Amino acid sequence: MHVTEELISWYNANKRDLPWRHTTDAYTIWLSEIILQQTRVEQGLPYFYRFLEKYPTVADFAAAPEDDILKLWQGLGYYSRGRNMLKTAIQVQQEYGGIFPTAYNQLIKLKGVGEYTAAAIASFSVNEARAVLDGNVFRVLARYLGISEAIDTTTGKKIFQRAAADFLNTENPAAHNQAMMELGALVCKPKNPACGTCPIKLGCYAFLHNATTALPVKSKK
Ligand code: ADE
Repeated sequence: MHVTEELISWYNANKRDLPWRHTTDAYTIWLSEIILQQTRVEQGLPYFYRFLEKYPTVADFAAAPEDDILKLWQGLGYYSRGRNMLKTAIQVQQEYGGIFPTAYNQLIKLKGVGEYTAAAIASFSVNEARAVLDGNVFRVLARYLGISEAIDTTTGKKIFQRAAADFLNTENPAAHNQAMMELGALVCKPKNPACGTCPIKLGCYAFLHNATTALPVKSKK
C-alpha cells in the first residue's frame, strides 16, 4: 500500500467527527475554512453553526448588512476576515448567480480566497486534485520528507508547494487533504509529536533520523 493510502486508512479510522466533513457544499466548506483560519477547531465550531443557521446560502450571506456579520463574528478577531467574506459572497452572487464555484481556477480569482482556501474548497467539494498547504501540512511534509528548507521564505514555499503536489493522492484528494491536516493536528504536533501512533512513521525522515524537533525549519528573521 502506498504511504498516502496508509495515511487515508488511518484518517478514516481516527478522524474527528467535524460537521464540515459531512458536506460537499462549496459555500459551507468556504464558511468553515475561513472561520478556521487562525482559529482553533473548538473555538470555531459554534461560529460555524451560527453562521450556517443565519445564512444557509451564499445568497443569504451576500444580502446581509455588514454590521450583522461583524456582530456574529464577535470574539473571533481579525475582523477583516468577516468583511472580506461579505465581499466574496457578493462577488459570487454577482458573477456566478449565487452558485459557489468549485473549480480551483475560478475560486482563486475570488477576492479573499487564497491558494489554501481554493485548494480546500475544490478538493473537498468535487475532489479536484489540489493539495492544501497550511501549518499542519508544512510540518508533516517537512518531517516526513526531510525538507530542511525554511517554510517562511519564498523559495521554501515553492519547494513545499511542489512537494505537496507530488505527495497528493490523486485518487482521493479530499480524504488526502483532510488526513494530512488531521495527522498534523492529532499526531505530528509541533511539540512532543506522538510518533508511536503515527501510521507513516516507518517512512518518515524525521522519525528515522530523530529530527522531529529540528523540522520544520523557520528562517531566523
Ligand atoms: N482546519 C482548517 N481546515 C480544517 C478542516 N477541514 N478540518 C479540520 N481542521 C481544519
